[in-house]
Amino acid sequence: EKVPVSMTINGQKVQQSVEPRVTLLDFLREQLALTGTKKGCDHGQCGACTVHVNGRRINSCLTLAVMQEGNEITTIEGLAQGETLHPMQAAFIEHDAFQCGYCTPGQIMSAVACVREGHAGSPEQIREFMSGNICRCGAYDNIVHAVTAVKD
Ligand code: FES
Repeated sequence: EKVPVSMTINGQKVQQSVEPRVTLLDFLREQLALTGTKKGCDHGQCGACTVHVNGRRINSCLTLAVMQEGNEITTIEGLAQGETLHPMQAAFIEHDAFQCGYCTPGQIMSAVACVREGHAGSPEQIREFMSGNICRCGAYDNIVHAVTAVKD
């Protein structure tokens, strides 16, 4: 049986009915068609599903939509300001910080949190903070370059 839930997603109030077993990830992708957030493993091991909840990053596959009552969610769709990319998005392009791009939304959401939370002081710190975001193409060096560029 569905239950009502309301939250703010990318600055917009969202009120929906959702089955209690639905993850935030599936809620975003399937119920709201916000498909920028990716499903890699669905088990908290790859980081492709990273979003921000009240400013902190989480794996959206590991939390239920109904647990987000009243929360502020930001997804990759919410980073750009109109036609202007977020500085981290621009840095990923400038530094070739992706190949296939599947992990990129999650990488960027983690990278934004990395800088905001003060963990971008060195390449080692960046790698540590970003270690939950797996890239099968191995674009790690350029991801670190992009995060470093935004930090400066
Ligand atoms: Fe959530 Fe992999 S899909 S961590």
